[in-house]
Amino acid sequence: MIFATFATSLATLTSYLQTYCNPHPNLTVSSSPLSGVGLFTTSDIPEDSVLLQIPLSSCTSASDVKASLPPILKDAPETLALAAYLYQNYVPSQNPYLDLCFESVSDHPLVTLRDDVLQNCDDPEIIREVNEIRAEADEAFKILSPHLTTTKIDPTRFKKSLAIILSRAFAHDDTERLVPGLDFLNHHHLPNINHSIYNDSIIVKASTHLPPTTELLNQYHQPSAPSYVYYSRYGFIPQN
Ligand SMILES: *[C@@H]1O[C@H](CO)[C@@H](O)[C@H](O)[C@H]1NC(C)=O
Ligand SMILES: *[C@@H]1O[C@H](CO)[C@@H](O)[C@H](O)[C@H]1NC(C)=O
Ligand SMILES: *[C@@H]1O[C@H](CO)[C@@H](O)[C@H](O)[C@H]1NC(C)=O
Repeated sequence: MIFATFATSLATLTSYLQTYCNPHPNLTVSSSPLSGVGLFTTSDIPEDSVLLQIPLSSCTSASDVKASLPPILKDAPETLALAAYLYQNYVPSQNPYLDLCFESVSDHPLVTLRDDVLQNCDDPEIIREVNEIRAEADEAFKILSPHLTTTKIDPTRFKKSLAIILSRAFAHDDTERLVPGLDFLNHHHLPNINHSIYNDSIIVKASTHLPPTTELLNQYHQPSAPSYVYYSRYGFIPQN
């Protein structure tokens, strides 16, 4: 999982994985040496095995939510449309996956600036990039908030919604979507899974043989992407 600060119990994570993701029986949720928690094998799993099968009906996609959004968002980028949808529709304690999403972004630079990260980063572009996405989020909120229906105007909730989409949404074929469970996986520049759409599900497969106690690893972005891209989008800087 992307962020380390994280209160949801392993039991809750396991039960949501089972609810949404049809996990391979020999996978377990456990704390990760990389960050927060991750998914690990408990036995040998051969290459090409299906690890998770997440029905598209469990996912929230930009193309599905656009119809329910105000006209100003009709031609908006999908990231913004999904963020506006979350901002407008999230009700705490009704959906454990969304609760987890909101909890997980408290460290995202749209929400909290981490001086330790900024000071230790050797990429001079990082401050410029972080300031830019923060300014863009403020500007988008100013334009959109009069059009969005919520019980109270809440800029932090909007920034969290946007941070969730930036850090956790996946693009497959046609549209961007939240895929509960696929976003459990930590980033690594040498991934051992791949994912694609098949038969109305997102199928996550082992791209190599996985010995017992292997953490499932996804590659979030092109390995060559500069560290500011990782920080502004995912809220962390890869160690590798
Ligand atoms: C899961 O692990 C058990 C014990 O090692 C093994 O017997 C079983 O075949 C595995 N299941 C799958 C689907 O690989
Ligand atoms: C496609 O999904 C349906 C419904 O989940 C299932 O019954 C069917 O067996 C699946 N087909 C293949 C080829 O996996
Ligand atoms: C995923 O990896 C498996 C095993 O290497 C391979 O057979 C399959 O074609 C890959 N799928 C995608 C979508 O890359």
